[in-house]
Amino acid sequence: MEYNIAVIKGDGIGPEVVDAAIEVLNEIGKKYKHNFKYEEVLAGGVAYDVYNNPLPEETLEICRNSDAVILGAVGGPKWDDLPGDKRPEAALLGLRKGLGLYANLRPAILFEALSDACPLKPEIIGEGLDICVVRELTGGIYFGDRGYKETEMGMAAYDIMIYSKQEIERIAKVAFNMAQKRSKILTSVDKANILESSRLWRKTVEEVAKDYPDVTLNHMYVDNAAMQLVRYPQQFDVIVTENMFGDILSDEASMITGSIGMLPSASLGENNKGMYEPVHGSAPDIAGQGKANPIATIMSIAMMLKYSFNLSEESENIEFAVKKALDEGHRTLDIVSKGDNALGTKEMTQVILKNI
Ligand code: IPM
Ligand code: MG
Repeated sequence: MEYNIAVIKGDGIGPEVVDAAIEVLNEIGKKYKHNFKYEEVLAGGVAYDVYNNPLPEETLEICRNSDAVILGAVGGPKWDDLPGDKRPEAALLGLRKGLGLYANLRPAILFEALSDACPLKPEIIGEGLDICVVRELTGGIYFGDRGYKETEMGMAAYDIMIYSKQEIERIAKVAFNMAQKRSKILTSVDKANILESSRLWRKTVEEVAKDYPDVTLNHMYVDNAAMQLVRYPQQFDVIVTENMFGDILSDEASMITGSIGMLPSASLGENNKGMYEPVHGSAPDIAGQGKANPIATIMSIAMMLKYSFNLSEESENIEFAVKKALDEGHRTLDIVSKGDNALGTKEMTQVILKNI
């Protein structure tokens, strides 16, 4: 089979980790006889520098016509003072919306070999952690009306959180389907004690639940969820929530696993179309130094194989190769114990390649 993949390396450590992940993907291609074809396109700060636009129309068009998109990271201090629509982050939002990627899957898995990196006490983390945050990605306050206006207190800025029933239904279905394949426990996170959009969220999720009688649904307020994640993380399996709550809770969940440098993500729309990127950012402080942990991007490739191409065996091969590298004691700077030797991006990639 031939697969067409749009590649956005982006800013900071983006190019380093994407190059690493593509090496791994090519190895999978060789082993299983798949033809992965890449088309590199610009988005983020690098695109702004060339086109004065963080998301050129051509980039979006090529991504639309690809089977999947791999993205490194966007952003950096160089572009921090630009207006909102010129910032590298605007490219991310434009890609999500433009490709209709409304479902963001963010697994937070604590690898056994890394249990020392978890900041929680061993009695709290117990047997480990395997949570999947399903974040709504194309609605809510990220995309609602925004602006400035005069008020009694002088000039003010506003951002509106708005959700249609349909948007809630489709993300709820993704989460229930995911819960069905896992431990059949779903926690829906909202702020229904305050927000009208959360009350519609809760009511709609309950309606969708009727089609999934085998899944146990709990509701939790977002402040409590943030607290419960560090108090008793094992109570969670799949968490579904709106865009901004998901942004915040997925960072929190990732920290429990020890390093944000380990976590992949998939952003999915209809028809298996997806964009795959590490949860971490562009890490400008270590960019270009060959120190970045490539695992999050490599694991994102594993998600791509599974969700967009339906290649489960190939996907599991990558997961196995990463786990083996960790079990053998190989560590990059972000996950190394004090006093131990840290591998660079390329060295870690070589170790993983050998395990494929
Ligand atoms: C994320 C990031 C983005 C978001 C930023 C960079 C726009 O934090 O993917 O979680 O807020 O969605
Ligand atoms: Mg975030």
